[in-house]
Amino acid sequence: MQTALSFSLLAQIETELLAVTAIDTQTAKGPDVKPEPVLLTSDAAVRAAAAAVLSTGEFKAAANETLLLHAPAGLKAKRLVIVGLGKKAKATVHAVRNAAGTAVRCAKPRAIRELVFALPENGSEGPLHAMTCARAAAEGAIVGDFDPDTYRSERKDVSVHSFTLAAPTTSDQPAIQAAFNQGVIVGESQNFARSLVNEPGNKLTPTVFGQRAAKMASEVGLKSEVYSTDKLHELKMGAFWSVSQGSEEPPALIVLRYEPEGVTEGPVLGLVGKGITFDTGGISIKPADNMEKMKYDMAGGAAMVGAMRAIALLKPRVRVIGIVCSAENMPDGKAQKPGDIQTAMSLGDKPGKTIEIINTDAEGRLVLADGLTYARSLGATHLIDAATLTGACVVALGMINAGAFSNDDATIEKFQAGLATSGEKFWRLPLSDEYYDMIRSDIGDIKNTGGRWGGAITAAEFLHAFAEDTPWIHLDIAGLAWIEDKKPFIAKGPSGVAVRSILEWVRSYEG
Ligand code: BES
Ligand code: MN
Ligand code: ZN
Repeated sequence: MQTALSFSLLAQIETELLAVTAIDTQTAKGPDVKPEPVLLTSDAAVRAAAAAVLSTGEFKAAANETLLLHAPAGLKAKRLVIVGLGKKAKATVHAVRNAAGTAVRCAKPRAIRELVFALPENGSEGPLHAMTCARAAAEGAIVGDFDPDTYRSERKDVSVHSFTLAAPTTSDQPAIQAAFNQGVIVGESQNFARSLVNEPGNKLTPTVFGQRAAKMASEVGLKSEVYSTDKLHELKMGAFWSVSQGSEEPPALIVLRYEPEGVTEGPVLGLVGKGITFDTGGISIKPADNMEKMKYDMAGGAAMVGAMRAIALLKPRVRVIGIVCSAENMPDGKAQKPGDIQTAMSLGDKPGKTIEIINTDAEGRLVLADGLTYARSLGATHLIDAATLTGACVVALGMINAGAFSNDDATIEKFQAGLATSGEKFWRLPLSDEYYDMIRSDIGDIKNTGGRWGGAITAAEFLHAFAEDTPWIHLDIAGLAWIEDKKPFIAKGPSGVAVRSILEWVRSYEG
């Protein structure tokens, strides 16, 4: 999708589809109360073109509600679509992001390949800041343009070719342009992550994952290294290796480095992603129902790769290392078994922790354990990991919030502050020694599962044992990495969740 900015008068813009936003200002309730939608544009011609239909009360301007008008009088646009932002109080920048996606997804099935989205005009109607909205609109439009049907012989939803954001002539044009450009980078990076997550297990093996990450890295100027079995043995990554040992596909340890010139001091951020390209469960095999979904068990790794892409292009002044531990979890004659003991990578001369495998389906924490230790060995001072780690997290938070855990309040507060920009929902869950007690092993140091209760937390405590005292955040995105029902602004399928929030966290360390 091509993107552009325009500072022309809306009425003068020749386009297939002009999209404008509206809010619902009605405060009264009741059966006979009419909605009071208000367009967020000062363009008199657009207001006039929409006046009659808005006065009917048929359109409420509910969030992502659309109203399409053909041949709108007085406008050069062929069609006008009004997209609702919802009630005035809820019409935030996040509603604008979604509205831009909704506009694009309104165009796609109608074979409209080109549209112009009018930046909501603040006026006295609300707190919509032009720059943040310009960025969000670009993100939303690009995210909205993605569809997962890449293997259909004839794709149903062909891309929109051109998206233009129209901002008022009076705007601070360079500032709007800069914000819009950022949004394009962020949206494209999120879609890059989604395109990886969308790939089935036979197409995106750990090796291919490594190749795709390395190709992206060379395109955006990141250093990359992709290792396999030999390196895992050399580093004594017994936990990571144990997951891959049951598969014909060799593992991939993907390392991406962002080293801004002249930055030799300050934090080194370590981003560690779970990259299980298919999770059968291993010998503790999963039931057949929904097992096909387990191709998205590399969504945490994809989020890190997507975030690294955005970081490389946005160039924050802080060093970042991205690590993906990629493997396929398969049952096989060589696969690990419940009861096996594995020795994890260690830091320095310390002996590696011994792990008693209770359930081979709790494999994500095994690959991440060595990934976290490896990040620390490379000098990471702060860690963040992302993983589709537990069904228990989905039980706890549903598909609305992802889980977030941390051993350090200041570190997670920075992450939480960034959610106001990213618009993603993460909810902090607790850690404590009592939960760690649930994963002590009788035969070794630690067990890879802690029983039925508090499963998201015992999984996080397992990772905590490897992050130790290094400030660390763990994101459990099992419930949000895959969208089960389509929404007006985003397709069913891979969501690209966490890319934007990880990026904001990284930017919060810019010194
Ligand atoms: N990849 C799964 C978790 C998952 C579940 C992701 C649902 C997305 C949707 C993970 O490897 C897993 O199998 N976890 C087990 C852990 C259990 C064996 C302790 C789970 O959640 O059941
Ligand atoms: Mn599993
Ligand atoms: Zn898994």
